Amino acid sequence: MNSPQRLEHQMTDKGFVPIYATGVVEQPWSSYSDADHETWATLFARQRDLLQGRASTAFLQAQDAMGMSPLQIPKFEDLNRVMRAANGWEIIGVEGLLPELVFFDHLANRRFPVTWWIRKPDQLDYLSEPDLFHDLFGHVPLLMNPIFADYMQAYGRGGVKAHGLGPEALVNLPRLYWYTVEFGLIREPEGLRIYGSGIVSSKGESIYCLDSPAPNRIGFDLERVMRTRYRIDTYQKTYFVIDDFEQLFDATRPDFTPVYERLGAQPAIAAGTVLDSDRVFHRGTGEGWPTDADA
Ligand code: PHE
Ligand code: CO
Repeated sequence: MNSPQRLEHQMTDKGFVPIYATGVVEQPWSSYSDADHETWATLFARQRDLLQGRASTAFLQAQDAMGMSPLQIPKFEDLNRVMRAANGWEIIGVEGLLPELVFFDHLANRRFPVTWWIRKPDQLDYLSEPDLFHDLFGHVPLLMNPIFADYMQAYGRGGVKAHGLGPEALVNLPRLYWYTVEFGLIREPEGLRIYGSGIVSSKGESIYCLDSPAPNRIGFDLERVMRTRYRIDTYQKTYFVIDDFEQLFDATRPDFTPVYERLGAQPAIAAGTVLDSDRVFHRGTGEGWPTDADA
């Protein structure tokens, strides 16, 4: 198996997205080319370098602890031995983005789906869908952190429940994932640091999210985040900052059923808006922001 099992494209509210076979696949490790391993090595070295002093200490330490290295594309089985022993998470190979319920169910059972294929050499800086580098380098290390590991499982369980509650819940919950798991910032003694996977796997956004005056950096507030639209095609207009993973896990512990009801009656907040009630770390200048609609 040398190419992803892409079945079709489907029009959604997020644009035209590819639909993949949803089954779990064996990582076809021996079919990776030299160019594939080289892409991994280049991206790994580049991001590790850039992320010193930018990524959260928890992320950098976890990545070391897992034994991920630039030498070659890691074997899922090797990482799984470490992860199972650490806290019972494992990674499974998949063809690409999964339907929501399938994804939630994997997380609820402490299985993290990782796309088995890696981007081509001309896509080092940007790719519109998750590949092996984003999933493995970006998402997997923090699963070694005990609190974050539990948060991810709780999110999966919450997703299964939200799916049963209806479409409203499935608008609000993914925003939480987007602004934490994918694009979250965390406060550390030396300053703001990155823990979101979508940022750590992107050279441009690793710099932009901390250094640019353009985006807002706002204190995390559960319902505020769940009301906020986001961008899928550009850097974020707003980043939400947590104090620590305990804060995130504690805020998301209560049953969301009444939260969804409350939120359903309130209008969504545009991605770039700052509210009077926000705890503002930095008010963005909005420089260079696109003016078309957010997702
Ligand atoms: N407490 C949430 C619920 O009842 C589940 C959840 C936990 C969601 C952690 C996201 C993150 O739905
Ligand atoms: Co991701």
